[in-house]
Amino acid sequence: SVVLLLNGPNLGVLGRREPEIYGTDTLADIEKAVAEEVSARGWEVVSIQREGEGELVSAIHEHHGATVGAIVNPGALMIAGWSLRDALASYEPPWIEVHLSNVWAREQFRHESVIAPLASGVVVGLGAFGYRLAAQALLHLVAGNPA
Ligand code: DQA
Repeated sequence: SVVLLLNGPNLGVLGRREPEIYGTDTLADIEKAVAEEVSARGWEVVSIQREGEGELVSAIHEHHGATVGAIVNPGALMIAGWSLRDALASYEPPWIEVHLSNVWAREQFRHESVIAPLASGVVVGLGAFGYRLAAQALLHLVAGNPA
């Protein structure tokens, strides 16, 4: 089984991107951590990071049906990523939204996510560790547990 790890704009440069906000782990570190968590059940991770919303939309449709769940950090597309939101609405497996930073402790424009109402759950403010928690949540949900 495959888990889709989807990261939006500016998340490919994690590690050097405002490390005081986003930490020093790179996307490669995060991919490794998620793979480690889901390996317990023999799952694999397909990791896709794109700067453009359309490319993320395509990735969601391409992997529809072939994945057991997804972990999604939309980056700033949280604010107005309506086509990303619609793509996720058509993605049936459970998926978890992750933000490294505590968006509610930051600027007002980060206080709402257009995709959050569709997520099984949201992990916010726990840095790269949040992706591990999201992976564990998927293991839990796909095992048939109610949220
Ligand atoms: C982010 C929070 C967003 O507001 C921001 O635009 C990002 C990163 C986070 O992981 O904390 O790009 O999604």
